[in-house]
Amino acid sequence: MKVAVRYYTKTGNTKKLAEAVAAAVGAEALPISTPVSEPVDILFLGNSYYAFSIDPEVKKYVRSLDKSKIGKIVNFGSAAMLNSTYKKVKAEADAVGIPMDEREFHCRGEFKGVHKGRPNEEDLKAAADFAKKIIG
Ligand SMILES: Cc1cc2nc3c(=O)[nH]c(=O)nc-3n(C[C@H](O)[C@H](O)[C@H](O)COP(=O)(O)O)c2cc1C
Repeated sequence: MKVAVRYYTKTGNTKKLAEAVAAAVGAEALPISTPVSEPVDILFLGNSYYAFSIDPEVKKYVRSLDKSKIGKIVNFGSAAMLNSTYKKVKAEADAVGIPMDEREFHCRGEFKGVHKGRPNEEDLKAAADFAKKIIG
C-alpha cells in the first residue's frame, strides 16, 4: 500500500502530528507545498482551524489534487476549540471527486497558552495508533 503524508501548519502543531503519523506508516511528513508525485492509495492530510475555517492554502491544495493519483484522503489535525475540520476538507475533496475515509484523528492543539503542550506525547501516540489502524 502506498501512502503519503502532507500537512499545513501555522504554529507547528500539525507538523508534530504529521511526523507521528508518518513514522507510524513508514512515510515522510512533508508540507503541502511538496506535491505528491507518485500515485498513492492513501493521502494522510493534516490541517487545522484558523478563524473558524481551514486555511485557503489547504482548500487550494485539495482542489489541486489529481483524483487519478489519490485513492482516498484521511484527515487529521488539532484545534483549540472546534472539533473536526472533516466537513471543510470533504467539501473540497468532493469537488474534485476524491473519497474521504470516514475515520479521522483529531485532538486539542495549543493556541495562545490554552491547551498548553498539546498535542502532547499521548496525542502523538494516539495519532500514530490511528494511522497504523488505517493502513491495517
Ligand atoms: C491564527 C489562528 C486562528 C485560529 N482560529 C481557531 C479557531 O477559529 N477555532 C479553533 O478551534 N482553533 C483556532 N486556532 C487554534 C489552532 O487550530 C490550533 O492551535 C492548532 O493546533 C494549530 O495548528 P498548527 O500549529 O499546525 O497551525 C487558531 C490558531 C491560529 C494560529
